[in-house]
Amino acid sequence: MRTTKNLLPTYQDLEEIIVSESMIRRRVRTLGAEISAAFGGEEITAVAIINGALLFAADLLREVRQPIRLDCIRVSSYRNETRSLGKPEIVHSLTIDIANRHVLLLDDVLDTGKTLSAVVNLIKKLNPASVKTCVLLDKKGRREVDFEADFVGFSIPDQFVVGYGLDFAERYRNLPCIGVLKSHLQNPPEWH
Ligand code: IMP
Ligand code: MG
Repeated sequence: MRTTKNLLPTYQDLEEIIVSESMIRRRVRTLGAEISAAFGGEEITAVAIINGALLFAADLLREVRQPIRLDCIRVSSYRNETRSLGKPEIVHSLTIDIANRHVLLLDDVLDTGKTLSAVVNLIKKLNPASVKTCVLLDKKGRREVDFEADFVGFSIPDQFVVGYGLDFAERYRNLPCIGVLKSHLQNPPEWH
């Protein structure tokens, strides 16, 4: 039988909170307004990169005023580690037609830029009317590929963070805030 303590959110595993729950809530609301204004009267085809963008997309899309079609794409580049392995792989691609549509690509964090630039290239091959990108977090100091997002929630320092969709070994995605894991938890052998 699990104890109540084990069922509590894992705040105690965080060294530091970088973005609080209320900051996220406020910024997601203003981002939604910025996106609504930028797309004018056009219908949006939103493409969320899962699993990371799942929570962000769910909250953000409810703040956008125009009609939205939604699809998800699955890309893998991390394997239970806090550093990228290199070339992102499209594991599960789009299932709806995006030709002549206004696409809004959503991701949790823009880090080296490899993932978003690879996905944008893939989407452009499918002849959309336009492609814009929106990320919750931007780590500008980590860029390896020249890439900037059109909409950014928060710029953060070069630190590995978890919460609000971001994971370490698939854990911590359900934390309502974003924070840095205690260092002794960043590489526990039993998680590999
Ligand atoms: P990029 O291709 O290096 O820009 O990395 C983007 C992907 O790496 C994101 O979609 C995340 O899945 C993952 N990632 C990068 N930084 C972090 C982090 O601090 N925490 C959790 N995942 C991260
Ligand atoms: Mg991810």
